[in-house]
Parts: sequence; C-alpha cells; structure tokens
Amino acid sequence: MVGRLEGKVALITGIARGQGRAHAVRLASEGADVVGLDICEAVPDVPYDPATPEDLAETVRLVEAAGGRIIAAQGDVRDADALKALAQKAVDTFGGLDIVVANAGICIPSAWDATTPRIWASHMDINITGVWNTITATAPHLIERGGGSIVITSSYAGKKVQPWMIHYTTSKHALVGMTRGFAAELGRHKIRVNSVHPGGVNTPMGSGNMMAAMEAASAGTEKLGTMGTTFLEKSWAEPEEISAVVAFLASDETPWITAEHISVDGGQQYF
Ligand SMILES: NC(=O)c1ccc[n+]([C@@H]2O[C@H](COP(=O)([O-])OP(=O)(O)OC[C@H]3O[C@@H](n4cnc5c(N)ncnc54)[C@H](O)[C@@H]3O)[C@@H](O)[C@H]2O)c1
Repeated sequence: MVGRLEGKVALITGIARGQGRAHAVRLASEGADVVGLDICEAVPDVPYDPATPEDLAETVRLVEAAGGRIIAAQGDVRDADALKALAQKAVDTFGGLDIVVANAGICIPSAWDATTPRIWASHMDINITGVWNTITATAPHLIERGGGSIVITSSYAGKKVQPWMIHYTTSKHALVGMTRGFAAELGRHKIRVNSVHPGGVNTPMGSGNMMAAMEAASAGTEKLGTMGTTFLEKSWAEPEEISAVVAFLASDETPWITAEHISVDGGQQYF
C-alpha cells in the first residue's frame, strides 16, 4: 500500500526527541522524506534535561529503521539563516518541500513575580520568533511546489491559562494568531496552516528538575492546580498520539482544514 505522504518532503523543528522525533518517525513511516533541526544543547534557565547530539542520531536511526530518508542538523530556530539553509538543502536533496512542522519550543515554569527578562525573552525568541523564522524560511518553497501544509505546535496553554508560566501561555497564544495570519495570506498558494494544541505529553520536557520547578512556581496557589485536568482516565498523551494528528493535517485527507486549532488534550482545555 502506498503511504499517505509518499513523495512529500517534511521539515520539522525540535527533531532530536519527544514530539519532534515522533513526528519524524510517523511522517517517514507514511512515506515522507524528512529534514529536521534541533539545538541539542541547554537553553539557560530550562529546568529539564537538554537534548543531545546522541538524541539527534537516535532520531536518524529510528527514521531510517522506519524506511525513511532523513537529513538532521544541529541548529537553532532563532537563527533564520540556518533555517533558510536547511530548507534549501531539503529542496536540493529531495526535490522540494511540502510539509512544515514548527514544533521546537521551551517551557520554564515560574510565577509572574519570579520571571526574569531572560526567561521572558527566551520564550518570545524561541516559541514565537522561532516559529516565524521556520515558516518564513520554508513558505517560499511550498509556494514553488504549488501548495502544502504547515502545522504549528502550540499547546493547551495556547487556548487557556497554564498557571505559573505567563510567558509560556503568552507565547502559545501568539501562535494562534500566527496560524490564522499565515493561513489567510498563504491560502491563495494552496498552503494550509493549522495549529495543534497538546495537553500534557510524556516527553523529556518533564525530566530533570521540571517537576520540582513546577512545584516551586505553584507554591501557595494550589487551587489553580486542578486546571488542565483531563476528562479521560489518563493524564498524559504519548507523543505518537500527537503525531497521528500532525500526519492527518499534513496529508491530503484534510484539504479543507485551514486556520484551525486542533486540541489533542483529553479535554483539558475545558476543565
Ligand atoms: N510535553 C508537553 O507536555 C507539551 C504540552 C503542550 C505543548 N508542548 C509543546 O510541544 C513542543 C515539543 O515539546 P516536547 O514535549 O517534545 O519537549 P522536548 O523538550 O522533549 O522537545 C523539544 C525539542 O525542541 C528542541 N529545541 C528547544 N529549543 C530549540 C531551539 N531554539 N532551536 C531548535 N530546537 C530547539 C529541544 O532541544 C528538544 O529536542 C514544544 O513546542 C512544546 O512547547 C509540549
């Protein structure tokens, strides 16, 4: 059976592990060639363990084991030139670009009065400008190809408040506006732009000192802690559950879905 994404080329950011890796493996298993980038080093103030070059190599191994072709580079979504070079490499190597998954992001828990200018700036630079860099570097190639699909990773924090991280909530809400704006302007080129909004996902974002940082940030405001409870029995998604939705939006099965914001959160946004 021919894969749903056969003949398509996908560029994915934050590909070394977690959801980005799962997206790479899923899209490759459906027939796409994959190009990806990850910073693979620590960002200041982030309390969980950083991704490593070894993680990136493992993504390459898994994509190839799934029968896919992949180019994986170490790089920063804050570096617009690096993204432009990677997009050009995708075109030179695989013949074009059809799918973009702007997934890379960071999350530093801190209450409003403990949030430093550096924490604020990192979220704006990586979670917002990094996505803008990703789309502006790749959209010309999708236009050249005659159409495509862009999927932006926001969060349940892009639809409601995630307490103890106003900077993260702000950045993920900004992606809703960015999704609509790009969908409006790129629609005439047959490019669809949608956002996905995961709730909690079982990735290394929860590793290291993340849970301790969440507890410290929430001290004294436990009432807010019930926000984001799921309606289903489990509390977290596996990354592959988000990838299934990304693959669906990337595929030709959704030609009439654009400027939409798809929650994959077990109902968290409504609790
Ligand atoms: N894990 C969750 O509970 C959850 C929930 C909702 C949304 N999200 C979002 O999903 C996306 C993926 O997160 P994840 O859960 O896989 O976490 P993760 O930390 O495992 O993966 C994120 C990847 O992005 C990379 N990255 C970070 N900054 C980068 C930069 N400047 N340039 C390039 N790469 C960079 C990291 O190195 C890492 O490999 C993020 O945008 C995150 O905000 C996560």
